[in-house]
Amino acid sequence: MKKLKVSLPQQPYPIYLKKGLLEEIPNRFKEKYPSKRLALITDENVEKLYGRKLEEELKSNGFKTQLISIPPGEQSKSIRTLEEIYEKLLDFQITRGDILLTLGGGVVGDVGGMAAATYLRGIPLIHIPTSLLAQIDSSIGGKVAINLPRGKNLIGSFYHPQEVYIDPQLLTTLDKRYFRDGLAEIIKYGCIKDKELFHQLLAFPNEEQLFQNIEDIIYTCCKIKSHIVEKDEKDAEERMLLNFGHTLGHAIEKYFHYEKFTHGEAVALGMYNITKKSEEQCITQKGTAEGIKQLLKKYHLPHKMPKIDREDLIKTIGLDKKNRGQYINIVLLEKLGNGFIQKFSPEEIERMVFIEKD
Ligand SMILES: NC(=O)c1ccc[n+]([C@@H]2O[C@H](COP(=O)([O-])OP(=O)(O)OC[C@H]3O[C@@H](n4cnc5c(N)ncnc54)[C@H](O)[C@@H]3O)[C@@H](O)[C@H]2O)c1
Ligand SMILES: [Zn+2]
Repeated sequence: MKKLKVSLPQQPYPIYLKKGLLEEIPNRFKEKYPSKRLALITDENVEKLYGRKLEEELKSNGFKTQLISIPPGEQSKSIRTLEEIYEKLLDFQITRGDILLTLGGGVVGDVGGMAAATYLRGIPLIHIPTSLLAQIDSSIGGKVAINLPRGKNLIGSFYHPQEVYIDPQLLTTLDKRYFRDGLAEIIKYGCIKDKELFHQLLAFPNEEQLFQNIEDIIYTCCKIKSHIVEKDEKDAEERMLLNFGHTLGHAIEKYFHYEKFTHGEAVALGMYNITKKSEEQCITQKGTAEGIKQLLKKYHLPHKMPKIDREDLIKTIGLDKKNRGQYINIVLLEKLGNGFIQKFSPEEIERMVFIEKD
């Protein structure tokens, strides 16, 4: 089994990684957490595939458990879902001495993490991430959040889990589109921090071959994310590197009302198009954008900017007149594997936003 440690001064915590790890969890918990109550938060898809079985096995190992299943999808990152979770935690009489487990993708991790952070001013939290994105990104770093009608992740906190258990075997049931969403973030790690990872991804002949090596890839990504979080727990500087491709990506997602592109696809568009532009301005080493394009194409992620009205896009990024005079941090690449943050004025970003012609 692979093990990593996120070394934070207040609360260092381990990440365990192994194919088939889920099955070992009841036994491990029996030794580590005897007689605790376990609230298991999941979504309806993951419940059917893995949640019920895990609950049964925890029960047969002597645990008192309560399965809390929320509807799948972003809609569940809401105040209403959070309130329903609190009610069930109260019914089940969870105390600060017990544990809240999340079993699911980033949605379950974020809303379940919010519940753990706030219920009784904080109860112990353990993540068992089940989507690729959750295994390489959202389960590490302690960000928990819910959405408001006016925007994503507007309510949130930093609340680290006690442990993270990653079982890559669970990814065999994940829909391809979600798998590729996670891949876009893996490509991002390669771009900002790890040239070798980038070239490794480029060298796999196909997605199947990549999947054969997924455990090592997840390990590399968790290591990169934990190092970034260790350097900058609260999003001050280093952690901003994780936003590579995201300023433009978020704007594209929002412009199409979150319907046309998934988050990963929008980030893919953001990474390629911002790099193409920074390369034209001689900020980025020549050939970098072409490398990104090759990799995105290989894993069926888009690179070509959709047709968007330039003014509308600029407005969506938040660069309309009311923001004049402010500076915005944009992540760019010096070359593959080396991301850095540059401050731009809105006027300069306007020039960076690039709409490719067919
Ligand atoms: N906290 C953070 O640092 C952070 C970082 C990045 C993203 N996020 C958040 O993560 C969320 C997106 O996460 P996501 O992409 O995992 O979405 P998700 O949680 O909606 O999961 C995607 C879909 O896959 C299903 N699923 C999950 N695991 C499965 C499995 N093993 N087999 C079959 N189906 C499975 C889910 O039921 C869901 O339908 C967003 O809300 C985003 O804001 C948080
Ligand atoms: Zn992202």
